[in-house]
Amino acid sequence: MSRIKVGVLGAAGTVGQRFVQLLADHPWFEVTALAGSERTQGQTYADAVQWHLGEDPPAYARQMTLQACELGIDCEIVFSALPGEIAGPMETSFAAAGYKVFTNAGAHRMDIDVPLMVPYLNPDHLAAIPAQQMRHKWSGFILSNPNCASIPLAMALAPLCERFGVSRVFVSTMQAISGAGYPGVPSYDILGDVVPYIGGEEQKLETEPLKILGTWNGVSFEQAAIQISAQCHRVPVREGHLLAISAKLGTRVTADEILATWREWRPAAVEMGLPSAPAQPLVYRTEPDRPRPGKDALASDGMGAVLGRLRPCPLLGWKFSALGHNTVLGAAGCSLLNAELYVASEQA
Ligand SMILES: NC(=O)c1ccc[n+]([C@@H]2O[C@H](COP(=O)([O-])OP(=O)(O)OC[C@H]3O[C@@H](n4cnc5c(N)ncnc54)[C@H](OP(=O)(O)O)[C@@H]3O)[C@@H](O)[C@H]2O)c1
Repeated sequence: MSRIKVGVLGAAGTVGQRFVQLLADHPWFEVTALAGSERTQGQTYADAVQWHLGEDPPAYARQMTLQACELGIDCEIVFSALPGEIAGPMETSFAAAGYKVFTNAGAHRMDIDVPLMVPYLNPDHLAAIPAQQMRHKWSGFILSNPNCASIPLAMALAPLCERFGVSRVFVSTMQAISGAGYPGVPSYDILGDVVPYIGGEEQKLETEPLKILGTWNGVSFEQAAIQISAQCHRVPVREGHLLAISAKLGTRVTADEILATWREWRPAAVEMGLPSAPAQPLVYRTEPDRPRPGKDALASDGMGAVLGRLRPCPLLGWKFSALGHNTVLGAAGCSLLNAELYVASEQA
C-alpha cells in the first residue's frame, strides 16, 4: 500500500524526537510535516532540535522545515507531542478539520468518548471513535495514550485482572527526568536528590488505569472497579519509570500462578503483527535486583513493560516491581502502535 502521510506536532520536544526516531523507515507511515512553536518554525529540523537520542536526527528529517502547528499541514494522521495546556484546543481543531489525532498530552485523556488506549490492553475501545465523531460532528477524531507511568501499571495489572480480579492497588513511582520534557527539572533540583512531588501525576495514576481496564458501553466508558493509591517521585534517572506495586487480587493464588499468567499473556496487538509491536510486551526478570531503568528500560526496544521481584505483601497480598520506558512505551511508541492498530482495524 502507499504510505499514509503523518505529521508530528511538537516535533523538536522530548516526545516529538521519539516520534521522529520511531517513524524513520516506517513501512506504513511517511512523515510529511514536522511542526513546532514560534521558536523553531521556519528552521530546518537539524538546526532547530537539541537532539537527545544518539548522534543525529534521522536523515529524512534533517532538512525538513518546521512548520506552525496550524490546520492545513499536509498529512492525514497527526501525532501530538504538545504540552498539555496548549494541546487541548489545538487537538480539537485538528480533529474537527478531519485529521486523525493520536495524542500524548493529558488534555483529552478522560473525555467521555476519547479512547485512552494501550493496544495490548484495550483495542476494543476503538469502538468509541464513531460515537465521538457523531457527538462532535467531527470528520476526524482524537485518540489518546495514557500517562507514561499509568501504562506499565495497567500492563502489569491487566492479565491479573483478567484471570483473578484485582480490587486494591498501592503504587509508588520513581520517575525519570525525561518525563518532565526538556529542559525539565533543573539539574540543581534533581542531581543527588529525589523530588517527592510531580504535579497532577498521582491523580492520573489513580484514575487512568480504571478507564484503560474499563469497558466501552456504546455511550461512555465504565471504569474498572479497582481502588488505586499512588505516590509519585522524580528521581535522577534519564529514562525509564520504575514502579513499586502492591496488589490485592480477587482470589487466593500462588506466585507460580501469577508468573504463569504474565508469561502466557499474548495480547491481540502482538498476534496481529503490527510493525511496532514487540514479540514480548511483558518481560519478567528473575534476578533479585531487576528491573532497573539503567539496564532494562529499552527491553523489547522500549515497547514492553519489565516486571520483577514478585513476593508476598503483608498488607495487600502480593507486591512486585514494574518498569516502562517513558518516551517509548509511555509516549511516542504507544501512540504509534495505536495508529498502527487503527489502520489495521480499518483495513480488516
Ligand atoms: N516526556 C515524557 O516522558 C512524556 C510521556 C508521556 C506523555 N508526555 C506528554 O507529551 C507532551 C510533550 O511532552 P515533552 O516531554 O515532549 O515536552 P517538551 O520536551 O517540553 O516538548 C514540547 C514541545 O512542544 C512544543 N511547543 C511548546 N509550545 C508550543 C506552541 N505554543 N505551539 C507549538 N508547539 C509548542 C515545543 O516546541 P519547540 O521545540 O518548537 O519550541 C516542544 O518541542 C506533553 O503533553 C506531555 O505531558 C510526555
